[in-house]
Amino acid sequence: MLHPMEYQAIRMGNGMEDDTSPRIGVIICNCGQEIAGLLDTEDLRQLTADIRGVVYTNCEAYPCSKDGQARIRQAIEDHGLERVLIAGCAPRLVEKLFRETVESAGIRGNYLEVVDIREGCVYVHPNDTKAAFQQAADIIEIGVARLGTITLPHEYCAEIVRKALVIGSGLSGLTTAIALADEGIRVTLVEQDSRLGGKTFPLQSGAAELITQQVKKIKTHPNVHIMLNSHVTSVSGQPGNYTVSACQGNNTSALNVGAVIVASGAEPQKLNGYDWYDRSRVRTHLEFDAELDDASKTEHGLVQSDVVMVLDGGEINGGRGSPLNSNSTIRQAIRVKQLSPDANVTLLFRDLYLGVQGGPGEDGFMYAQELGIMFFRYYKGRPPVIHDSTIEMHDHQTGEITRIPFDRVVFSLPIMPREGTDSLAGLLHLPQDEQGFLIEPRFPLRPDDASADGVYVSGSVHLPVDTAETLFQAYITSARTKHFLAQETICKNPPVAGIDPGLCTGCGACAQVCPTQVIQMVKRDGLLSLSEVDELRCIGCGNCLVVCPVKAIALPGWSDQTILAQISAALETTRYQNSFNGVSENKPRIVALTCEWSAYSAAEIAGARRESNFPDVKIIRMNCSARLDPDHILWAFLNGADGVFVGICNPGECHYRTGNLYARERVKRLKNQLADHGVDPRRLHLEFMSGDDYKKFIGTVTRFANQLSVEQTSLKSEELVHPGGWNGKTIRNRSMGA
Ligand code: FES
Repeated sequence: MLHPMEYQAIRMGNGMEDDTSPRIGVIICNCGQEIAGLLDTEDLRQLTADIRGVVYTNCEAYPCSKDGQARIRQAIEDHGLERVLIAGCAPRLVEKLFRETVESAGIRGNYLEVVDIREGCVYVHPNDTKAAFQQAADIIEIGVARLGTITLPHEYCAEIVRKALVIGSGLSGLTTAIALADEGIRVTLVEQDSRLGGKTFPLQSGAAELITQQVKKIKTHPNVHIMLNSHVTSVSGQPGNYTVSACQGNNTSALNVGAVIVASGAEPQKLNGYDWYDRSRVRTHLEFDAELDDASKTEHGLVQSDVVMVLDGGEINGGRGSPLNSNSTIRQAIRVKQLSPDANVTLLFRDLYLGVQGGPGEDGFMYAQELGIMFFRYYKGRPPVIHDSTIEMHDHQTGEITRIPFDRVVFSLPIMPREGTDSLAGLLHLPQDEQGFLIEPRFPLRPDDASADGVYVSGSVHLPVDTAETLFQAYITSARTKHFLAQETICKNPPVAGIDPGLCTGCGACAQVCPTQVIQMVKRDGLLSLSEVDELRCIGCGNCLVVCPVKAIALPGWSDQTILAQISAALETTRYQNSFNGVSENKPRIVALTCEWSAYSAAEIAGARRESNFPDVKIIRMNCSARLDPDHILWAFLNGADGVFVGICNPGECHYRTGNLYARERVKRLKNQLADHGVDPRRLHLEFMSGDDYKKFIGTVTRFANQLSVEQTSLKSEELVHPGGWNGKTIRNRSMGA
């Protein structure tokens, strides 16, 4: 909990004192008529000029143009600006550009805030000028509140080592390594097997030939050092300058590289659930492929006449199906028919993933049907049962139990990450999905951020992919790596946790919840163990801040003061409501605390798609829900929020590993306590979603707002009492919709 005086300070003035307020400049983008066509940006500018700390405001037709950028630089110089807010289109589109603009004028990039009044506002309210204006004013005020309270993270600069490490020697690893080595970059290729080539799957047509060629080339490449039977045991250092230990037998080598590419691949699951069965008649997909190869070389062809293929999308053995899995099975079925046209071929499946509509997957499916291959979908939870000469399945379409004769059963098993992927994920702090596939941090949303980290993921270790996709990913990854290593130095200032030894009491709570175990308890003066953070390895999730009972930990950019100031700003609407006679007074005021990798992005996409049919929410962006403190939610209620919506990454998709699971627990616990504080628990809602699931964002926010509106009488609370009872003060709870 914050100290009551801190609450007071934030409440009284967004955490800023007049004499110490940084000098903030606000530039409002007209975006031609995209924004100015709906919003009176001049009115908005005048309103913004009144916000504490703002010393300069301007409306620009196109601040992203060369002239616009020059004027921003000039304004920084003329007005002695220390921080700059640009209100325009989605940060993801322009943040990098404006960062360079302000940095060239002497302001550190962290002191730039880009807020979205186009996708996040104008596109959401295309026909409602007043609502759009209010939303834009909110968004700007929240942004100014953030700028006025953030502190700079510690910056480090390092020379970039122009060497790369590639882990895995499948098609992806080989292609990436050769592409880098051809550019003169020294590459170390680490492979856990005793030979190069990795694993290929039947669908990866042409992959085997390509691999053979590349293995030949890489073995004699002067810029490539190959380590077989090896695995990575530790990684330390920082982007551009990593020290990696690779173990080969009893020898350990220390490698100094600027970038690390993980291309360790995937492989089909083992046949677990059915290995008791007569293996002379049951084959895995890979085994059967070898059998087909042999059959194609003989005169009599395939001897089996009743082939039943079972596509296991994870229902039988666990794991997850993929387009590679489904298409591979269909292709194998087609191959059987081509080798032996009279054979009866049946494919049993639960889910078929054919890839893009109208793509080769669908073509293959149609062709298979033309060849007479039978497809049956079995019931969920009732996988096919093998008897002596028949396989029994519960047909989803007819609801009947069908027995299909066979002389060969082929199991197509889900493809899973190769052994050792978990360990690599831990060493490189790469998040994994539920099946253990690596999720490259930030790539789907911010490819440039991933580049700056110098750690890349390529090929099937992401998700099983076919040959074309593997090559595409490998070339993209090598291009990004080359671009990254081409810089001579890198300066970074990632927000990492810092512990104040003067405040730390050594309780160790932070060390217990750190997802990367970078907090150690270190003895001081032989008396007390205090927490210490390894700053280079800290990923800055903020989980430790939430559990620290004495608030001894700081995370620049994501302090309580900043987040609470933003919440206050979001709910501080009197000033501009007066301009429009309280435009939204009949709507519930909802604060959405959103993870930037999921709900925030989904909201942004909703706007970009010009989805306008959903209620206003005051969106506060957070780096991860690990940073979400129950205090933040209480603060929103204390400041008059009618509802608090918490939007976080799906389980298994948190960029900081387990932040979302901690958030779920914290919200659950708080919900159980809210009634004691006079707040109906239904006013707090948590939702998991992915970054592109804009439909879920719209749907859940709309349902939540409707519930708040419909239930306003029953949800209305008498009085909200601060749980700490500070000052003995009670705050009259704002009734919803009143
Ligand atoms: Fe989204 Fe952790 S990154 S919840």
